[in-house]
Amino acid sequence: MSSPIILALDTKDVEVAANWIEISRDSINHYKIGLEFFLKHGVSTIKELKKRFDFELFLDLKLYDIPNTVKGAVESIADLSPKFLTVHAAGGAAMIKSACSALPNGSITAVTVLTSFTEDAFANLGYKSSIENTVKMWAKSAIDAGATSIVCSPFEAAMIRQISDSITIITPGVRVEGDDVGDQARVMTPKMAITNGADFVVIGRSITSQWNESATAMQSKISTILESINN
Ligand code: C5P
Repeated sequence: MSSPIILALDTKDVEVAANWIEISRDSINHYKIGLEFFLKHGVSTIKELKKRFDFELFLDLKLYDIPNTVKGAVESIADLSPKFLTVHAAGGAAMIKSACSALPNGSITAVTVLTSFTEDAFANLGYKSSIENTVKMWAKSAIDAGATSIVCSPFEAAMIRQISDSITIITPGVRVEGDDVGDQARVMTPKMAITNGADFVVIGRSITSQWNESATAMQSKISTILESINN
């Protein structure tokens, strides 16, 4: 089974994360572990989870530092064999090359402009180009430096697909009708994201918020999303 959903395990609680995997593993095989979980529990707990459930790891650390420091950071987590490891595309080509050299068997995933940015908030930081143009420039530079996957908003997926046929495109910021948008500013449905060229959609709260109701509600939300993508 290969599912286009990457479930974001955004929790500090190991047993909650384990429960979310257990409940969803019939229909999902990629799980995203980010800073919230990693900073609390570290490499050893993630290793245990991987051993227990045997899933593909999307390690979302969004690294951003000088090349040598990023290389050291990647070496420190290389043992986890992440399929995807995120770094900020804004860190530049030398940083991305360093990251790639330290993870020869994994995909360095360049995160372009965060999906929580509006055009105004982005311009207020001094960026002179639009979000779309910036994503294009950063994605090209990251791909040239060796990144083999890109995180962008679904709005930029089609444009990135034109830059490269082979790059893996991963889009967070997806919501189905009726979902709370939360802090995301540029959202689209999973179906539209995939139609636009995304290989995977990262979904967190749309799915995990259902867990408060019941495991069945969470499973049924996953089925609804998968059906919406496949129809
Ligand atoms: O709950 P929600 O579906 O909004 O979660 C989206 C996940 O994707 C979060 O874990 C967030 O850190 C991540 N992400 C994002 N935007 C990016 C990169 C990653 O929302 N540009």
